[in-house]
Amino acid sequence: MIALVEELGFYLAQECYWYNPAKMPAPAEWVTVRRVRIKDSVEHVWWLSKTPFPKADNRRVLRPYSADMLRLAKRGVKTTVRPSGHSITSSFDKIESGGSIPSNVLEDQNANDMLIVGNNSANDPYTIRCKKSGVKIHPARFPAALPEFFVKLLTEEGDLVVDPFAGSNTTGAVAERLGRRWIALELLEEYLEASKFRFGG
Ligand SMILES: C[S@@+](CC[C@H](N)C(=O)[O-])C[C@H]1O[C@@H](n2cnc3c(N)ncnc32)[C@H](O)[C@@H]1O
Repeated sequence: MIALVEELGFYLAQECYWYNPAKMPAPAEWVTVRRVRIKDSVEHVWWLSKTPFPKADNRRVLRPYSADMLRLAKRGVKTTVRPSGHSITSSFDKIESGGSIPSNVLEDQNANDMLIVGNNSANDPYTIRCKKSGVKIHPARFPAALPEFFVKLLTEEGDLVVDPFAGSNTTGAVAERLGRRWIALELLEEYLEASKFRFGG
């Protein structure tokens, strides 16, 4: 994978994961018929960069501290070395940075536990308006939390966000809400047409 990315002229900045419990049990032959394999629930998200130092700032995607972290900060941490070899110093209990740095498993900004970001929303305005108009609903929409995380991490207000495989243009709608400019490219015109519903069109 890394060799392929380098050949394409990109750097692999980080591998991330999207936990998607709505993923279908596939390949059906192996999961539901032969009952050999178990269900895949994770999508790989490759964060690629054109430079070795991508523009990004994890302070834009901080999560609320856990109750445990808040308790630790109150109680204070003794300097010690964990069995794993990691040194824990008194700076470990400092919580002045405004939140905890998220993990590379995509999490809901509002939830305390690991996000279960399904992509099967059935009652968002886009889906409701598609149904009312008898227009085909895009079958593989992202949950908004997925592009939202990366738009916040990688861009600032006024920056340009480009989605070359836009589908129902979840990314564009998120970018617009966050004050970014956007360009959406999509092969099938009917998907682009329906994506207007995300913008009151
Ligand atoms: C997984 S979907 C994207 C869904 C989108 N993230 C959303 O939330 O609606 C991928 C889309 O890429 C489009 N696509 C595939 N090949 C393409 C190409 N060569 N150029 C532009 N779009 C393409 C497909 O028609 C499909 O709508």
